[in-house]
Amino acid sequence: MTVTSPVAGHDAAAPEEPVVELVGVRAAYGAIEVLKGVDLVVPVGSVVALLGPNGGGKTTTMKIVSGLMPTTAGELRLSGRNVTGITATEASRLGVCSIPEGRGVFANLTVRENLWVATGTGTPLAEVEEAAYTRFPKLGDRRNQLAGSMSGGEQQMLALSRALGTSPAVLLLDELSMGLAPMIVSQMYDIVGQLAEEGISILLAEQFARVVLPIADTAALMLGGRIVAVGDPADIEHELSTTYLGG
Ligand SMILES: Nc1ncnc2c1ncn2[C@@H]1O[C@H](COP(=O)(O)OP(=O)(O)O)[C@@H](O)[C@H]1O
Ligand SMILES: [Mg+2]
Repeated sequence: MTVTSPVAGHDAAAPEEPVVELVGVRAAYGAIEVLKGVDLVVPVGSVVALLGPNGGGKTTTMKIVSGLMPTTAGELRLSGRNVTGITATEASRLGVCSIPEGRGVFANLTVRENLWVATGTGTPLAEVEEAAYTRFPKLGDRRNQLAGSMSGGEQQMLALSRALGTSPAVLLLDELSMGLAPMIVSQMYDIVGQLAEEGISILLAEQFARVVLPIADTAALMLGGRIVAVGDPADIEHELSTTYLGG
């Protein structure tokens, strides 16, 4: 992946550092602590699924990784480097790319203009467009259409294309399924599965566990600001059915 860590090469024999690592991370909104010591590892090239019911702290965890929220304790590491306190701009420079909850597109810009935003990181527009329209031919047909006038699924395709245009070191996907019909949700996760096969590191949060377990390498169950179980998706699936209904 593209992030170069100052400690990379420090010990050539060492295994590759995880692209994202949270160690004992705590975070609060005002006086209310909502992350109560989160440990999480996203190895390079793997898909980690954060699961659990609403309010568990999934989005807050994503915000920590993308530099949108400060920690009150603990450490955030990107590719082995301690970057605790990083800003969102710095995180994006280090290759953290997130599609936030809701739609990660500018509704009043066209498809093309949305893709143009991804070129801020240096990839030429023509290249971003070609990659997007090859992956999602529908977007090519609608290149001059306002993003806000497309269906939810098409908007998520655009959000994904925009994210991929930046060649992210890690892709953060928060509730990709939100507001989408079940059939579209499984199509979206088929695409995410393809991205995973291409070797992109992915951290995703999802209430509807069933759709993401098949593509996840590791699943973590989050409840009340803590990760209460982590491991093989099949084992966590069992945990889910006994802890709460995963949809
Ligand atoms: N902007 C906010 N201000 C205050 N509390 C918040 C805010 N966002 C989230 N919370 C609270 O933080 C907790 C974790 O929320 P969140 O990270 O959004 O969980 P999830 O994504 O798993 O649903 C919840 O109790 C929620 O009410
Ligand atoms: Mg959330």
